Amino acid sequence: MMRLQETVKSFFRGISIRKKLKPLIVFLATVISIPLLIVAVQSQQPVTVKVLIQALEAAQLEPIVKDFEAENPDINLEIVEAPNDTNKVEDLYTSAFLLGESPYDLVYMDIVWTPKFAAAGWLKDLSDRVSQEELDQFLDGDVNGGMYDGGLYRMPFRSDAGMLYYRSDWLKDAGYEPPETFSELMKISQALQEEGYTDWGYVWQGKQYEGLSAMFVEILEGFDAFWVNPETLEVGLDQPNAIEAVKFLRSTIEENVSPPGVTTYSEEPTRRLFQNGETAFLRNWPYVYGLASESDIAGKFAIKPMPHAPKGSNGACQGGWGMGIAKNTDHPEEAWRVVKYFSQAKTQKKYALQTGYVPSRRELFNDSELVEKYSYLPELLNVIENAVLRPPIAQYSQASDILQRYLSAAIAGTMEPEKAMNAAARETRTLLKRSQS
Ligand code: GLC
Repeated sequence: MMRLQETVKSFFRGISIRKKLKPLIVFLATVISIPLLIVAVQSQQPVTVKVLIQALEAAQLEPIVKDFEAENPDINLEIVEAPNDTNKVEDLYTSAFLLGESPYDLVYMDIVWTPKFAAAGWLKDLSDRVSQEELDQFLDGDVNGGMYDGGLYRMPFRSDAGMLYYRSDWLKDAGYEPPETFSELMKISQALQEEGYTDWGYVWQGKQYEGLSAMFVEILEGFDAFWVNPETLEVGLDQPNAIEAVKFLRSTIEENVSPPGVTTYSEEPTRRLFQNGETAFLRNWPYVYGLASESDIAGKFAIKPMPHAPKGSNGACQGGWGMGIAKNTDHPEEAWRVVKYFSQAKTQKKYALQTGYVPSRRELFNDSELVEKYSYLPELLNVIENAVLRPPIAQYSQASDILQRYLSAAIAGTMEPEKAMNAAARETRTLLKRSQS
């Protein structure tokens, strides 16, 4: 009987101790499980990787971004929209990097930014991530445009080269072959203007911005002239052939072949004039082909290499865009997966079919589906393989600023071409000397 009483008592004591401990147990369980829960929830949240891209292209990339996110649900690829002028995007990236903590994990890069961004230490070297065999699949110019000091800082996405667009319907109707030389370009333009086909003959990018330098290297090549020799750093802007190149551009305005407003046009305004049937010829990049094919002039235009002076050859400026990874990103692996996705053949082909942008993988220039849509692609491969580089030097953006300033004054007629080019050459030499010492 006594034993039974003891057992019953200790049972009830046990219950009261358990009752007292309960709040403590609950507290401990909560303290331990909340962080575990947070980690679990966080690991299901996609990681956001950010990149800044010009507005026109940000919109065109939407389907690619959707595909990427569907295949990579753990990554949220966020595109921040930038203005369309490449140098404005460059300025935005530059100030973000200069401020220290750049908000961008990826850098969507114009080919001319590589030396500056790599020399400043803003990008990760990607060379350990890509084999030579893989790089051999891309056009040499696009790969070289991503290299600096033995490192690879940008994987090619889309290539670019300046071309001449012309109204094949008007030329045929009026009995002209597409022009091979600058003087044929002028003559045919004036004839078509006089015969009432068009207000303007030839439209090009004359605004004071990077597109002016890109367009000008083609005219320089056409006159067998050069800007800066990247090996010797010799500056050629004040040589007689380069001055003739400037005079040619000026003459297009003086002779009413190009509208005076051409000195304020970037790519997009010139594309619109062409699409609206206001000009017979246009210098622009291949992206225009896709857009113009969906406009009123569909089937009425064609594309060919730029004309040249008798002493020079047809010049196509090597352009192009690729992806780099910001040095300070917290998500290098996720960023690399985006880079790989953009550079793969499947993505490049889809994007080219959708937009008319040019791939950077050599095999795609002869892809049957692409050639069916863009019959000029095999010829463009040859043009891009012989394209002219803007000087691949770390001080490129300053050199380009100097050229833009003086060239712009010369084509607008506020400075004599010779005087302008002498001053541009002098300042460029000072810039290059300063950065050598
Ligand atoms: C195109 C080219 C780029 C060039 C720019 C100039 O986007 O791909 O290389 O700098 O035009 O406007």
